[in-house]
Amino acid sequence: MTETMREFFENRPNLSTIIFAGKGGLGKTTFSAATSYWLAKQGKKCLCFSTDPQASLSDIFEKDIFGKGVQELAPNLYVLEIDADKRIQEYQESIRKQIMEMYGLDELPKEIDEYIKAAAAEPAMHESATYDAMAEIMASKEYDFYIFDMPPCGHGIRMISMALILDAWIDKITEAREKAQEYAEVISALKGKTAAESEDAILKELTEIREKLDFFRDTLTDTERTAFFMVLIPEKMAILDTERALKMFKDMKMELSGVIVNMVYPRSLLERPDLTDFLKYRIEMQRKYLDEIWRKFKPYIRAVVPMYDREPKGLEMIARVAEDLFSWTPDKEV
Ligand SMILES: Nc1ncnc2c1ncn2[C@@H]1O[C@H](COP(=O)(O)OP(=O)(O)O)[C@@H](O)[C@H]1O
Ligand SMILES: [Mg+2]
Repeated sequence: MTETMREFFENRPNLSTIIFAGKGGLGKTTFSAATSYWLAKQGKKCLCFSTDPQASLSDIFEKDIFGKGVQELAPNLYVLEIDADKRIQEYQESIRKQIMEMYGLDELPKEIDEYIKAAAAEPAMHESATYDAMAEIMASKEYDFYIFDMPPCGHGIRMISMALILDAWIDKITEAREKAQEYAEVISALKGKTAAESEDAILKELTEIREKLDFFRDTLTDTERTAFFMVLIPEKMAILDTERALKMFKDMKMELSGVIVNMVYPRSLLERPDLTDFLKYRIEMQRKYLDEIWRKFKPYIRAVVPMYDREPKGLEMIARVAEDLFSWTPDKEV
């Protein structure tokens, strides 16, 4: 049995974190906005969040919200588009300060400054800033729902695997540091120093990172609280990508919550007298891939959403997408 989007939410009253993943340009931001809109209409306080430098939530809601903090767009509907680059800059600044304070410097040595700059240019820094912002927001527990619109390229999935790897790694280092600290304490005791003096700052930092990651991982892997949806379209590449994502989920012993099939040309178009060959072939191509999608992902299909005659932008169009997303049933022809 295929669980529809509406049933999926009804059957999981403890859901609070919704993540849309998948390749760029398929509809993640559109569905994040539509889902937030629909939940807000049900009286749930929602925060729709993104870090996309292309400022796409601003685009869809037709309001400039990038880097402006939490904005209320409609009753219960809050949006936040964080400026990850700015966050990285602030982070860099705090590291500079810490180093200067730690070593009592007035100015940072050039090599160190360059090193910090180079590290900030790493794509991983951008991701790290994103998780940081996400973890901070989720910890606030201010909202009933957190809807995360992920940047393109399966970041959403990679981020969990990274959390798992980092976690194991931090475990190892922590263990080593704890051992080292035990020895340090013995030495301190022998030398007559207090234990506080030998407190390991690095250990403290590691523990903090780990606590954050643990919180993150626990939330994201809790299928009662968190849902992961992949968006795909009836095309070969998207199907391959979804298969890969399903495998990644399996490897991580996680459950993909569902797939949303987007941009489907309504079959009824085939009956129009003014149908061009071009459109006819496109529709037939899509039908072929739709069959494949049903064959491969049937238990995961939560909704099939039509291709609209214009870009779904503005609250009115988002309302229409929400309706299509949450009223879809398998017997409904798209
Ligand atoms: N069902 C649809 N019909 C027509 N245009 C769509 C549909 N879904 C999304 N779009 C448009 O396609 C583009 C990509 O969608 P978007 O939600 O921004 O994707 P993503 O966030 O995955 O990159 C946007 O311009 C959006 O307005
Ligand atoms: Mg997007």
